[in-house]
Amino acid sequence: MVMIRRPRRNRQTEAIRNLVQETTLDVNDFILPLFVIEGQNQKVEVASMPGINRFSIDTLQEEVASCVDLGIKAFAPFPSIPDQLKDKYATESHNSEGLYARAIREIKKNFPDVVIFSDVAMDPYSSDGHDGIVENGEILNDETLEVLGKMALAQAQAGADVVAPSDMMDGRVAHLRHVLDENGYQKVGIMSYTAKYASAFYGPFRDALSSAPKKGDKKTYQMNPANSREALLEAELDIAEGADYLMVKPALAYLDIIKSLRENSHLPIAAYNVSGEYAMVKAAAQKGWLDGEKAMLESLLSIKRAGADIILTYFAKEFAELQRR
Ligand code: PBG
Repeated sequence: MVMIRRPRRNRQTEAIRNLVQETTLDVNDFILPLFVIEGQNQKVEVASMPGINRFSIDTLQEEVASCVDLGIKAFAPFPSIPDQLKDKYATESHNSEGLYARAIREIKKNFPDVVIFSDVAMDPYSSDGHDGIVENGEILNDETLEVLGKMALAQAQAGADVVAPSDMMDGRVAHLRHVLDENGYQKVGIMSYTAKYASAFYGPFRDALSSAPKKGDKKTYQMNPANSREALLEAELDIAEGADYLMVKPALAYLDIIKSLRENSHLPIAAYNVSGEYAMVKAAAQKGWLDGEKAMLESLLSIKRAGADIILTYFAKEFAELQRR
């Protein structure tokens, strides 16, 4: 039969498929999130995230060493703060001797070449479990910026390469840029959680850090999952305010947003393949309901194909180990 166009010709063999493959994954694409806890010699698995542990600062060094061996060079640590240190103003978040600052210092001392993306948000330190100061049930914006500025400065002083505000307060990128520059940290970058949606997919992360809101939800600051033009507005502001990277979070249910930011900005675009997206694949794989490895690779590939230059993912180490095999 005569048929001019036969797309299957380019799918015939693995070698041909590899030649015409448009998107590839590389260990350099990834930032691995890490959970830090107090104590010594601790390595505690997160119940809802099989294969992901919370480390004390000492065991964390071994974990980073094994990741660096596998070629992972970028990390995003998050602290799990004991309840008794939490308060309304997240005071512990800018303690230069606190868990987070010590963890960052220790990683940068042992591994000066890795890139540390530090998390700027009040929730891990807030007795209210919110990303801002709560007053009569309202999340205060401008008062929260003051706390975020102190937090980012403490992280820069500890050695963070890039601060990553995940709070969604208005004006935070401009405020952090101002505070960092005024204190001589012109070289510290800002990765903005530009389009961070009020998502159900953060559940396992909140378990890992015990950071769930005590009351209410995060809908007055995180974005409505129904909106995409609003992501462009947030991107415009972040670019104008001095962000060095834009991020979309979560990733898989928001591939259209990743694509749209990619097409509308010249900045590097990051996407956060969040805890719930990880947990879904792991849970189904544990039940034997799907092939976890293939589902992981397909998920990561789709995020890259949508336009992400950088992927924050709990799968980073597993991917690197797979490549090594
Ligand atoms: C909060 C924050 C969250 C995550 C990162 N930073 C959760 C939230 O907004 O409640 C979630 C990451 C994940 O689910 O993997 N500042």
